Amino acid sequence: MTAKKLISFLLRGSGLLGLSDSLKYRVQGARMRGANRAFFRAHPGVAVPPPYLVYESYALDYRAYYYDGLDTARFMLATMGRHKEMRGVSLLDWGCGPARVVRHLPELLAGRDCRVSGSDYNPESVAWCRANIPGVAFSLNGSEPPLAYTDGTHDAIYGISVLTHLSPQQHQAWMGEIFRVLKPDGIALLSTHGAEFRFNLMPWEKRVFDNGDLVTRGNAKEGHRTYTSFQPAPFMHRLARAAGFEILEHREGGPRSQEFTQDLWIFKKSAGKTSLTAESGAGSA
Ligand SMILES: C[S@@+](CC[C@H](N)C(=O)[O-])C[C@H]1O[C@@H](n2cnc3c(N)ncnc32)[C@H](O)[C@@H]1O
Repeated sequence: MTAKKLISFLLRGSGLLGLSDSLKYRVQGARMRGANRAFFRAHPGVAVPPPYLVYESYALDYRAYYYDGLDTARFMLATMGRHKEMRGVSLLDWGCGPARVVRHLPELLAGRDCRVSGSDYNPESVAWCRANIPGVAFSLNGSEPPLAYTDGTHDAIYGISVLTHLSPQQHQAWMGEIFRVLKPDGIALLSTHGAEFRFNLMPWEKRVFDNGDLVTRGNAKEGHRTYTSFQPAPFMHRLARAAGFEILEHREGGPRSQEFTQDLWIFKKSAGKTSLTAESGAGSA
């Protein structure tokens, strides 16, 4: 076990993880100050979110926020496009944060007659997105379902690194909710901390993971970057089955140099299927 892992474990246990996270935020801000200023000078027309929102949802590196977001948006469209034509569709980014990915979709989908939406539980992210990102309809949801959409609204939903910050109960609740707001034959792409992240686990967490069960690290606000969870493949299969989904694709994450380190799962709401976990009726947020 490395010293870093042990320190992080002790900080979480003693309730000091929030404090160490705000220290990390300050250190990252100081380290990236020059590079971020250079990005602002070179991109005067790009609306940039406040620093904490960028840090909390990704890293306090505006170049990475913008260009990794663009790469991920392209990658996401290509990946979902293998299963559903991205034309004339209604698309939702669930857990969109300060629009790192979804901000690029209106341009990438130009001329394809698509409707793009984003939803997040963080009111500051949603307020910033509404004020700064054109071409996307944003909604606020609660930390628990429902989303602000009626049953069968979307053809495709993606959630990048959102399940990775949720409790076991919320995994079930959100899978059911995503099922509910998808149209029949709609697809969902969700990313998870799969086997690529096993090295990160403590010995007793590895045993849970290897047993095919979800590992969660709480003692932090659910949904925040400091609340983390790790999803072995058998857990995801059970989760999908209970929600009524068919699994179209499971792509294991690769090492840092590859396109995506998290696992990607693509699910389909096959026409006529019902869910054990979806509840009927939309909310308003
Ligand atoms: C690691 S960030 C990823 C943000 C964005 N998907 C991206 O790739 O840049 C996790 C995001 O999930 C959001 N989130 C956490 N719990 C949520 C929930 N229950 N519903 C919607 N969004 C949630 C957080 O506010 C945050 O924006």
